[in-house]
Amino acid sequence: MNIRVFDSDESLAAKAAATIFELIIRKPNALIALATGHTPTATYEHLVKLIRKSKVSVSDLSFVALDEWVGLSPDTEGSCAAYLNQHLFEPLQIAPDLIRLFDALSPDLLSECLKTDNFIHAKGGIDLIVLGLGLNGHLGFNEPGTKPSYSHIVELDEMTRTVGQKYFRTNVKIEKGITLGLKSILESRRVLLLANGAHKSEIVGAVITSGTVPEIPATILHQHPACDFMLDREAAALVETRR
Ligand code: F6R
Repeated sequence: MNIRVFDSDESLAAKAAATIFELIIRKPNALIALATGHTPTATYEHLVKLIRKSKVSVSDLSFVALDEWVGLSPDTEGSCAAYLNQHLFEPLQIAPDLIRLFDALSPDLLSECLKTDNFIHAKGGIDLIVLGLGLNGHLGFNEPGTKPSYSHIVELDEMTRTVGQKYFRTNVKIEKGITLGLKSILESRRVLLLANGAHKSEIVGAVITSGTVPEIPATILHQHPACDFMLDREAAALVETRR
């Protein structure tokens, strides 16, 4: 795990976007997996600007969403699909057949998992995955105690249900999630884990100083050979003292 601390969220986002952009230049048909949430928004804004400015073609890229709240339609504000459409796919005009989103309204969620895993397989694997970090250490919706697997359906942790309300204007019932598994994350060729803000400092410190334990899913990233842990100063506050 390569720990990189940035002076601000702005510089973190600029570097994360530049790293994704470098991949796009090097591999125009890359498959990129994307987290949603508050953390990566600035990164995606920078990425859209970089792509527009350079006029590089993104028509061969493919994308897969990391997760979705079960029961939400893709046009529900706060859903992962709505977020990615708004922040990346619409601004970059990505063709729908190059995007794999979980259909969280499907009556057959298991087949949704399979479709996502097959999409990843057909594209030759994930080249780069952008991750955020839950306050409980989750990655995607791989909650504490999750065993490494591929895409699956999850009973959401109490903390995820509570914290997750921040994405919605009204109270939304969120009990289950559908997510790429820890195996899909570990098999991605490159991982960018982003964390910003003082509220993440405790969990960032715990992840970095702990060995791999199921109670803190993000600790599995210690096993990844090409994982950048990109932190702003606030999120990294306990890193120096605990290392
Ligand atoms: C969302 C996701 C989650 C978030 C995490 C942090 O697609 O995968 O694991 O990355 O909950 O959320 P924020 O960035 O809102 O603090």
